[in-house]
Amino acid sequence: MTPAEAQTRIAELRVAVARHDELYYRQAAPEITDHDYDAQKRELAGLEETFPQFASADSPTQRVGDDRVAGFQEVAHLQRMLSLDNTYNEAELRAWHVRLAKLLETDDLRYTVEPKIDGLAVSLTYEDGRLVRAVTRGKGDRGDDVTANALTIVSLPRMLAVIPGVPPPRVVEIRGEIYLTAAEFARINAERAAAGEELYANPRNTAAGTIKQLDTAEVARRKLSIVLYSLGHCEPPAVRSQTGLHERLRAWGLPVVERLWHAQGIDAAWAAIGELDALRRSFAYGTDGAVVKLDDFGQQRTAGEASKAPRWAIAYKYKPDTARTRLLAITIQVGKTGVLSPVAELEPVLLAGSTIARATLHNEDEIRRKDIRVGDIVEIEKAGEVIPAVLRPFPDERAPGAVEFDLFAAVGGKCPVCGGAIARVEVAAEDAQGVAWKCQNYDCRAQRAGRLGFFCSRRALAIDGLGETVAAKLVELELVRDPPDLYDVPLETLATLNLGTADEPRIFGEKNATKIVAAREAARALPLEKWLYALSVPDVGETTARELGRRHRDFAALAASPLLRAVLQKAALLDQRELEAPASRKNPAKTDEEKTRRKELCARLDAEIAALDAGPLAGVPAEVGPAVAASALRFFANGPGVRLLAKLCTLGIDPQGTVAAAGVFTGKTFVLTGTLPTLKREDAEQKILAAGGKVSGSVSKKTSYVLAGADAGSKLEKATALGVPVIDEAELLRLLGS
Ligand code: IVH
Repeated sequence: MTPAEAQTRIAELRVAVARHDELYYRQAAPEITDHDYDAQKRELAGLEETFPQFASADSPTQRVGDDRVAGFQEVAHLQRMLSLDNTYNEAELRAWHVRLAKLLETDDLRYTVEPKIDGLAVSLTYEDGRLVRAVTRGKGDRGDDVTANALTIVSLPRMLAVIPGVPPPRVVEIRGEIYLTAAEFARINAERAAAGEELYANPRNTAAGTIKQLDTAEVARRKLSIVLYSLGHCEPPAVRSQTGLHERLRAWGLPVVERLWHAQGIDAAWAAIGELDALRRSFAYGTDGAVVKLDDFGQQRTAGEASKAPRWAIAYKYKPDTARTRLLAITIQVGKTGVLSPVAELEPVLLAGSTIARATLHNEDEIRRKDIRVGDIVEIEKAGEVIPAVLRPFPDERAPGAVEFDLFAAVGGKCPVCGGAIARVEVAAEDAQGVAWKCQNYDCRAQRAGRLGFFCSRRALAIDGLGETVAAKLVELELVRDPPDLYDVPLETLATLNLGTADEPRIFGEKNATKIVAAREAARALPLEKWLYALSVPDVGETTARELGRRHRDFAALAASPLLRAVLQKAALLDQRELEAPASRKNPAKTDEEKTRRKELCARLDAEIAALDAGPLAGVPAEVGPAVAASALRFFANGPGVRLLAKLCTLGIDPQGTVAAAGVFTGKTFVLTGTLPTLKREDAEQKILAAGGKVSGSVSKKTSYVLAGADAGSKLEKATALGVPVIDEAELLRLLGS
């Protein structure tokens, strides 16, 4: 890899890792597996090491993932809470030992080995033996005060047990992990399934989401657990080693890890890691690794710490559990954007404590690449996620006559849900990477249900209680076509929904229905960025929605967005610029005369581009690119967006952007008509918006001004009839100047 390539890749990875850090730590709703997330972090760390010229103090590799959210008081830790470096194989573990031995000038090192608990880190402060605070790791130096929620944990002592002759420390920070037991996680999900709610993905994210709930009664209902394993600030010092700490925590009556191994040297530590692996599945908490720590606190101090992790401890990550089973069939699911995804139907097999009968196959390309065929014995993997994945087939054991998988043939060339046309298209990262088959019918039942489920999901409008099952039912009964139709479904209809069958009815119920009605009413007040994201505009993801929501006052402004038009205009100018460059590879200038002419042209194009960058595009991030702009403008101009906006209007829902700029036109609405002498219509609109004003398409009594140019039509007549002030371009510029 060349330095230039490395620099590009590092930049890409920093954006990706920062995003996944945010999803994992703050939102407790990751989009990729822990395994893939770790792989990205490792690749980034590796590149930064190989190309130190691109290292940066604000790279995500140099800071701990931040879990702080709104609604909690921030508290400083007395001693910083660090993360751990990971290793994935024996060689890396031994290399860590060698580094440590060199640093401490002895390879006679004593370690402890203990389970790495898959929960969320918390720091408890006890003063004179009394629990005073529970704080999340936050960004390492300060976190969120979650004391009220932590106090719902039954096994958490409010007072440290008295040890005869040993007074409790004046102040001590005790660190550990909050988690949900597998049994409690299963209970919560069973309850959610019964209520037709979205299922939680895994215990770790559910625990992380729970501790950040503002409703303590709800936290208490989900029985969280805790285990303690490390020390922060302690005054006066109480213990001198990890072994001593473990014993002291136990004597204080605190929940500790099941077992702690004492290992003299790295060979013994490696053996302990193996023993722990054989035992860990019987623990109440999930474990994804072993933590090896230097036992002696004095040696720990000598070893010290790097920016986000101590040098004296390391995590060894176990390989995810795998199992072998038979692939019985491949069925096809249709997602909210119409992407057809293959799903593996498996002979049920026990894996990591649960019976697995379905697994994801990602996409057709991957099935082909791995040559997975129906009837094969396959290896499946479960990496903490609820949905396991098919890793690989065993072709040697393949029955004769097994054929290559062909998705198009499998669905008979049409959408398996609506029977509509399908096409092979490039899909964005949010769906599945690369090329996929896609149902072309926006009104396909599966797409509608997918969009409704998404509309209500926590990341969108958070209409909790309306999960996939209810969404599918509402669409099937044709009670909802577009997501906002949900507002027309009466409470009684929701309450009497049968989510089961005629023989075995499962009625949604009054209580669940009431919750949905309350949540949908609350959603009316959510800002433009949430609504934009919730409406599933193609290519508009969460980040783009946020950017657009901050730059437009409402949907009307977005539909006519001068900003999005400027994005397209800039893209066109850049294309032209490339083609007109005198040294263009596709189209080189032939004569000197042509060279000069094209050089001048390019200078003009550059000036136009610079004007866009300094004007409407100032501060607009690269995410809002031409694909997004074209897609959003198309959607609201003549696509399904028209229908959606009309519906929102009928419902009286008018989400507001969080536009910061207020100006001379704040609170004023303009209607433009006719041709202005110097300004283009878009430019005039942009000036009005930039000064805090709104632009509307029709004149009413509420219109503040009609801006009229040559050949103005009926709008001008209406303005005169209603007594709305009419101004011209010169007057507009004068108002703006004042
Ligand atoms: S010790 C300064 N021990 O794993 C080192 N951490 O991936 C403090 N974790 O932030 C950590 N089990 O939240 C330690 N037995 C264990 C652990 C453990 C889980 C967590 C901890 C840490 C994260 C790093």
